[in-house]
Amino acid sequence: MCGIVCYIGSKEATPILIEGLKRLEYRGYDSAGLAVTDGKETCLVKEVGKVSRLEEKIKEDSCRGTMGIAHTRWATHGRPSVPNAHPQTGEEDKVFLVHNGIIENYLSLKEELLKKGHTFNSETDTEVLVHLIEEYYEGDLAAAVKKVLRLVQGTFGIALFHRDSPDQIVLARRGSPLILGIGENEYLAASDVNALLRHTNQVIHLKDNELAILNRDDFSISDFQDRRVIREAETIEWGQDAADKKGFDHYMLKEIFEQPDAVENALRGRLLEGEGVSHLGGLEGVLDRLKAMERIHFVSCGTSYYAGLLARYIFEKVTDFSVEVEYASEFRYRNLRLDEKTAVLAISQSGETADTLAAIREAKRKGALCLGLVNVVGSTIAKETEAGVYNHAGPEIGVASTKVFLSQCVILTLMALLVGRYQRLSLTEGLFITRALRKLPGQLRRILDQAPRIEEIARRYAQYHNFLYIGRLYNFPIAMEGALKLKEISYLHAEGYAAGEMKHGPISLIDPDFPTVAIVPRDSTYEKMINNIQEIKARDGKVVAVAAEGDSEIAGHVDDVISVPRSIDILQPLLNTIPLQLFAYYIARERGCDIDKPRNLAKSVTVE
Ligand code: G6P
Repeated sequence: MCGIVCYIGSKEATPILIEGLKRLEYRGYDSAGLAVTDGKETCLVKEVGKVSRLEEKIKEDSCRGTMGIAHTRWATHGRPSVPNAHPQTGEEDKVFLVHNGIIENYLSLKEELLKKGHTFNSETDTEVLVHLIEEYYEGDLAAAVKKVLRLVQGTFGIALFHRDSPDQIVLARRGSPLILGIGENEYLAASDVNALLRHTNQVIHLKDNELAILNRDDFSISDFQDRRVIREAETIEWGQDAADKKGFDHYMLKEIFEQPDAVENALRGRLLEGEGVSHLGGLEGVLDRLKAMERIHFVSCGTSYYAGLLARYIFEKVTDFSVEVEYASEFRYRNLRLDEKTAVLAISQSGETADTLAAIREAKRKGALCLGLVNVVGSTIAKETEAGVYNHAGPEIGVASTKVFLSQCVILTLMALLVGRYQRLSLTEGLFITRALRKLPGQLRRILDQAPRIEEIARRYAQYHNFLYIGRLYNFPIAMEGALKLKEISYLHAEGYAAGEMKHGPISLIDPDFPTVAIVPRDSTYEKMINNIQEIKARDGKVVAVAAEGDSEIAGHVDDVISVPRSIDILQPLLNTIPLQLFAYYIARERGCDIDKPRNLAKSVTVE
């Protein structure tokens, strides 16, 4: 959601902070601000809208100094406005603070402060923290922060400094990520590693209930009980290159085109082809327990939830597990049977999604084996699960997830294969799957070669306002994911439906202005999909089909066909995903939407 960047060193802080904010802008972009100090003067600039507007404003103000904190906001409490943007300051303009997360008891804390005569400038929960810190400050900022955080309920990643200590930034975290970057004679901190990579690849992840003090020539970490924490820096492998657009117009398009590589990375060293099985090092330590499970639950949100839905079909085909899939935001409040016979797998690109994290904590409490499938190395979900697998898909910047979704689907197939080969899956079937997996990157490249044709089709559909996406079995989750992509980035209404449900409602919507995208693989569902398409055509609905290469019949039934190479039933949905991503992308581009930063959405949802 919101993003934090901090710098302390010998260089001018403002350009570093602005550049860092731009790298985090995909996390929140309704307003931004920074506070920079040269030891005497502190410059505070805030602006509504994107970071570029803040940058413009700073040109007039010119903020000089070698220490500062900055923030890009995704509004929770109070609409986007200059007073509500961060850094927040208190009454005396001495403490400057940026905050990610939500202070749940801010109203009662605010009431107390109002009684004491405090006046507030913003509607934010964050401002309460600043007033409290000012109240408790007696010359030691970290000590005041610790006292205040004892009063606070909710989640926070905060960074702050005090006008009287211009050589010190204090950071603290509970439930919202903060990462220290250790540079040469300089320290940085950010809520996302992407903002650090240009300066250093040596990082330390703060854990919950920890506080860090960055000085000009050293830093220290302690917990909220003042116990010193010693933690080695980790080396991050992603180069800055990976986070650049590399000539593509948008990160989303770049990431769509990176999918063959993302799949290769997901498979690298993980297929034992002769044995028709996979090898997942991260699960080795729990493999015996995992094999003996009766149930597996997939918990996740957004696109990661659809990866879980697809995995249910794949696990049911390949393993003996009984499989449940649940939105993390529902899972955490349900009374589910979660015992030692249950594994819970959190699927999360960011590894920081608040609901998914809470679901895992709940499952852990009840004795389930908690596993993670995450892309961001060292993220909270990765750290809080007993074992798991990394996607190794590289940074995903576009808010609408593409390459990580595909990577999740591949790795979930590898997991099913791993378990299935100890259960009902024969060697022949295992070999069948491993061979088909190997072919995926080449097949994906062939689909991407069709991008100009998909663009031409998308342009013709860009003026419609409603879309239905339909599929059956493995392709039903893909229909939902396709619809989600379109609504996320083009703001058009789109619904993904199981094609068999069409007659139970959505068919009433069909008319010449309500097109359907139908996924029509050459499998056991083919005839039934053709029937659905005919029902749509009988009502003058337009149909775009994603169909199998070599299907000569389909063109006679629909308005437009996008052909994809054929794979086995369980992997066909992975290939069918790509045209839907491109279709959504080109429609959004035709409509002039801000594709990488769609309105109201955030890449990483770190509040409930
Ligand atoms: C947000 C993002 C989606 C993502 C979802 C889950 O809504 O905009 O693209 O699918 O969060 O995120 P996660 O990081 O847990 O996969």
